[in-house]
Amino acid sequence: MRPIEESEWPAFVAVDYEAFSATYPVEIADRWREVLEIDRLLSAFDGDLMVGCAAALSFEMTVPGGPIPVAGVTSVGVLPSHRRRGVLTALMTRQLHGLHEEGREAVAALYASQAAIYGRFGYGRAADTLNFRIPTHGSVFTRSAPADPALRLRVAGPADALADLRRIYDAVRPGRPGMYARSDGYWRTEILPDTEHDRGGMGPLRCLIAEDATGARGYALFRAKAGWDEHGVPDGEVRLLELFASDPAAYALVWRGVLDRDLCTVVHAERRPVDDPITHLLAEPRQLHAGWFDDLWIRLVDVDRALASRAYAAPADLVLDVQDEFCPWNAGRRRLVTDKASCEPTGAPADLTLPVDVLGAAYLGGRSLRAAADAGLVREHRPGALRELSAAMAWDPAPWGCRVF
Ligand SMILES: CC(C)(COP(=O)(O)OP(=O)(O)OC[C@H]1O[C@@H](n2cnc3c(N)ncnc32)[C@H](O)[C@@H]1OP(=O)(O)O)[C@@H](O)C(=O)NCCC(=O)NCCS
Repeated sequence: MRPIEESEWPAFVAVDYEAFSATYPVEIADRWREVLEIDRLLSAFDGDLMVGCAAALSFEMTVPGGPIPVAGVTSVGVLPSHRRRGVLTALMTRQLHGLHEEGREAVAALYASQAAIYGRFGYGRAADTLNFRIPTHGSVFTRSAPADPALRLRVAGPADALADLRRIYDAVRPGRPGMYARSDGYWRTEILPDTEHDRGGMGPLRCLIAEDATGARGYALFRAKAGWDEHGVPDGEVRLLELFASDPAAYALVWRGVLDRDLCTVVHAERRPVDDPITHLLAEPRQLHAGWFDDLWIRLVDVDRALASRAYAAPADLVLDVQDEFCPWNAGRRRLVTDKASCEPTGAPADLTLPVDVLGAAYLGGRSLRAAADAGLVREHRPGALRELSAAMAWDPAPWGCRVF
């Protein structure tokens, strides 16, 4: 196992391409190269043959209290010929030990292709997401929905509107745990591309902006496809990719623009936050037809630094006995004092015993420690300690990363 050289990039792509049964043109992987740092790509070899790969992105990600450096783990794959022989385990070991030794990021985050893979490496399911399928006929807003007569909608070219998109995204990002900073390259290669592959059978990337005389206050990026049923009735569809706004009236207007698109009868909104305000705006929220699944997974690479790097919703002073076989430097008792933003090893008796993946799941503030305890994952030694830590770690708004990396 070793970091790769630039000349080995095509082999790295080939492993991932095979592992994921990818359908995109191989050149599309080269876009990803623009956001990956070559010295953070790790590969496993069988003789000369590259058989496994994993990468870490250098991110700034919001956690409760504000943004911190986070390693975004991605491009993880093992050749089908070499699966279930411990290659992923070896890659994860090397990567997490490497992150610990480098000391740059105390937290790692990832999106999982399957939810069963990463718990064994100490990652916890830290955020959830909702997919909506909204029939446009059922999308009437409540009478109390906000409106601002100064606002109007503008149809814009996504690339032309990039400065506005960035400004709005960057205004929202520091307030919501899980959202991460997008570099120029990230916008260019992950958000704006519009090839046939990116369209996936839909139309081009479209952009709607809500603005007033002072400028843009909200935007939606989406694709649409016209269609008519066998009776000639229009039944086009919209796929909403992202929607952000800096205030409630702009937010409501952008959603209205997406929901009211002519000739379209359904809006598929993928990967929305679980506390999306649209759930309050629709007069008939059942029409969201929401489907729920996991969003970000979080691994505390260095428990002490990670716990000292976030803010807390309530004071807590307790001793945690952390179980972590995969990263043994985290195992054992440490005292967390939220008022002092400190977490340090201690010899004092434990108030709670919990595995590192449960702590990771609670880190962004969206996963109840009480529920984890009810599932038998946390042991309380001092009455009240669970309530204390659960209240301290909870956070509003709910965590969400928006786009998969
Ligand atoms: C997922 C993948 C990386 C696993 O690689 P691997 O080298 O076979 O994994 P390992 O041999 O190290 O497996 C370690 C353990 O995880 C388990 N495991 C591996 N993949 C799993 C999966 N998809 N679901 C459930 N358990 C899994 C193994 O059974 C093994 O458990 P054991 O030690 O109790 O036997 C590989 O199957 C792959 O490339 N899949 C397709 C691409 C993908 O999904 N990548 C992850 C992107 S987020």
